[in-house]
Amino acid sequence: MIILGIETSCDETAAAVVDDSRRVRSEIVLSQLDEHRPYGGVVPEIAARAHLEHLDRLVARAMTEAQVGYAQLSAVAATAGPGLIGGVIVGATMAKSIALVHGKPFLAVNHLEAHALSARLVEDISFPYLLLLVSGGHCQLLAVEDVGRYARLGTTMDDAAGEAFDKTAKLLGLGYPGGPALERAASSGDPARYALPRPMLGRPGADFSFSGLKTAVRHAVAALPGGKASPHQAADLAASFQAAVGDVLVDRTRNGFALFRARAGLASVPLVVAGGVAANTYLRRRLQALADAEGARLHIPPQKYCTDNAAMVAWAGIERLRLGQRDGLDFAPRPRWPLDPRAA
Ligand code: KG4
Ligand code: ZN
Repeated sequence: MIILGIETSCDETAAAVVDDSRRVRSEIVLSQLDEHRPYGGVVPEIAARAHLEHLDRLVARAMTEAQVGYAQLSAVAATAGPGLIGGVIVGATMAKSIALVHGKPFLAVNHLEAHALSARLVEDISFPYLLLLVSGGHCQLLAVEDVGRYARLGTTMDDAAGEAFDKTAKLLGLGYPGGPALERAASSGDPARYALPRPMLGRPGADFSFSGLKTAVRHAVAALPGGKASPHQAADLAASFQAAVGDVLVDRTRNGFALFRARAGLASVPLVVAGGVAANTYLRRRLQALADAEGARLHIPPQKYCTDNAAMVAWAGIERLRLGQRDGLDFAPRPRWPLDPRAA
């Protein structure tokens, strides 16, 4: 089985060719950093236009590098939601067109499912597992029971974790994109210098909240002389922020383990962390310590499969095609598309 995957749901234009032996035959990711940098965040209309401008060429290159002809493809998969709808339409329409022209099945992939299954592209991890999905758009704990079977254990009440990183980095003048910049600044900062809140810590359940933390950083900056953080103060604030996020993620994920065990009646389940924020080395260390304490194995895909990419979309396509699934060419792209239909 060989699948072409396409990802265009946010600010990465990506194409990849992956086969069912987990071989990634080609993978290309084009980040629109320069397009969005002047605005300090992703502008949906600019993103959609950039996808449209680059996707043709990217797909052609992915096919050439994979040394695969369209006739050899088993199917074409694209993220069909959730995400910025203009970009999603560009990617899904491209995939449908290729599928139609070459008479191949089309797979409308849920972007969250692609993140959820991304660890299985790299390693043989069997179901069920606990998933902490932490990205720019999402912050959820999910019980992953099988392909297509997800139960949401917790979600954020306001900002996603990556969004909190991005907004806090902007506030501290650390540049764009915020997550990696904040982690860099934090590495030379004192995490105990500022007492920041830990929203939801100690509460029952596995929901998250980050907007209060971001606001606390804003107040801390406003209270500084001149209302602006020096590089030294910004580093201390970044480290204090990151430590607070770490405490919250660990606390919520610990509850996620308990909820999952109660639900599945299992003594131990592995923990998989996916999404862009899983690239953070400090948070990885904190989650490893939690997994050790819980007697659970921790799996985190390599960084290139944590942030948005098309290999995980192709892989989700393979997982679904193996089960005989495919979608119609009339599948309508979805701006919202929860993995757990009961949690809509
Ligand atoms: O999964 P992703 O590429 O896109 C979404 O589906 O949202 O995640 C991007 C998010 C951004 O908010 C970015 O700031 C965050 O992941 N991120 C990080 C790091 N690298 C990326 N957050 C914290 N530390 C990092 N090293
Ligand atoms: Zn994503």
